[in-house]
Amino acid sequence: MSKKATLEINGNKYEFPIIEGTENELGIDIKTLRGATDGITTIDPGYKNTGSCQSAITFLDGEKGILRYRGYSIEELAEKADFLEVCYLLIFGELPTAEQLEKFDKDIKEESQVDEDMKKILDGFPKSAHPMGVLSSLTSALIAFNPGSVDVDSEEEMYGAIVKILAKFPVLAAWTMRKRKSLPLDYGDNSLGYVENLHKMMFAKPNQAYEANKIVNDALDKLLILHADHEQNCSTSTVRIVGSSHAGLFASLSAGISALWGPLHGGANQAVIEMLEAIKADGGDTAKYIAKAKDKNDPFRLMGFGHRVYKNFDPRAKIIKKSAEEVLGDLGIEDPVLDIAKGLAEVALKDEYFVQRKLYPNVDFYSGIIYRALGIPTEMFTVMFALGRLPGWIAQWREMRLRKEPIGRPRQIYIGENYRKFKAISER
Ligand code: ACO
Repeated sequence: MSKKATLEINGNKYEFPIIEGTENELGIDIKTLRGATDGITTIDPGYKNTGSCQSAITFLDGEKGILRYRGYSIEELAEKADFLEVCYLLIFGELPTAEQLEKFDKDIKEESQVDEDMKKILDGFPKSAHPMGVLSSLTSALIAFNPGSVDVDSEEEMYGAIVKILAKFPVLAAWTMRKRKSLPLDYGDNSLGYVENLHKMMFAKPNQAYEANKIVNDALDKLLILHADHEQNCSTSTVRIVGSSHAGLFASLSAGISALWGPLHGGANQAVIEMLEAIKADGGDTAKYIAKAKDKNDPFRLMGFGHRVYKNFDPRAKIIKKSAEEVLGDLGIEDPVLDIAKGLAEVALKDEYFVQRKLYPNVDFYSGIIYRALGIPTEMFTVMFALGRLPGWIAQWREMRLRKEPIGRPRQIYIGENYRKFKAISER
């Protein structure tokens, strides 16, 4: 028998169906609420209790610390798959066959040129501009060079737009970094793999042959996989909601990049390293910063701690912590900031304030440490997150359009002034 929920308002009873997901999650379907109740709405700031869509892409269970892309566990994918396979899996729903992967790779490479005129746009930014702002602008600018909206009912057009952005985005991301470092822009080398090529585009020196480093590229690949999707988070919801107005893929992605930029979301990886550096400069007294984080009169928060959904542990943080230790070991790097991070985590995990509020290290607590070890500048950390999240955003945008979801348009409860008569300027 189908499940139902009953809501009683002022003695009137209303019934709503309960939708059940494949992992037995239940959601009360309130699509008919306003119509049935003559305009009563729900209020849920931050959408903590609101499901915005039905999705078949990513499953996560915050209590049990489970994260799966299309049914495959993040642990297995991080260990056995490469980033391009994960892109294909997220976007198209299945792991690619060898043939499909080869074609996907080839099609992306075909599109890896960026119009030379895009360089003029990049040139207009000051060197000091934050790379996330530049990347969001350049992604938006891509629309001008690739005009025309995608007919989402045409598989071919949809595929074309997807390979285009997967190809051009790493070029733009690498350019934002090269511009800051006063390095000539690089188009990479299509004989390299996707992640190797990204690394080359970021770091190759104009007068030196590029030498790939397996440890570095494997670590980057894993980091990108760990960030590839995370269901309806702030930036993904942004991409879906912008796309729901039938704005194009690139425009929706540009908005997603801006959403990711904030320090409470993707910007946390940069904020973590800045925090750890500040603690180090202040003598490494972790207890002092734990106390500051607990003090309600102090706005300081322990960056990299806490998560809207994970309330036991973040499975990505577990993988990444191990990876950070391996990468630093393999590259022979001793980073005092890693010791401070470990010290903070140890204390916080036992502290009642953090235990009670279920605040655990999240993925970004450790990712910055690896990025640093790989020589990636701090202000580029969130760009690295965006590079990883790209296939997730694309998959979610594609799903939203294929499911023909309506335009996103939440309601509100108005708390402003009641009607007032207009006052002429001389009377105010
Ligand atoms: N340090 C200290 N206290 C914290 C922290 C923190 N990092 N995070 C949450 N709290 C406290 C809050 O003050 C609040 O305490 P209270 O109940 O006494 O008022 C309680 O824990 C609940 O916090 P909320 O902000 O309500 O939790 P929410 O789910 O809204 O926020 C968030 C989650 C934004 C991630 C938050 O934990 C945070 O700001 N963390 C630091 C930033 C960060 O690491 N962001 C990255 C998120 S992961 C990602 O985007 C990949």
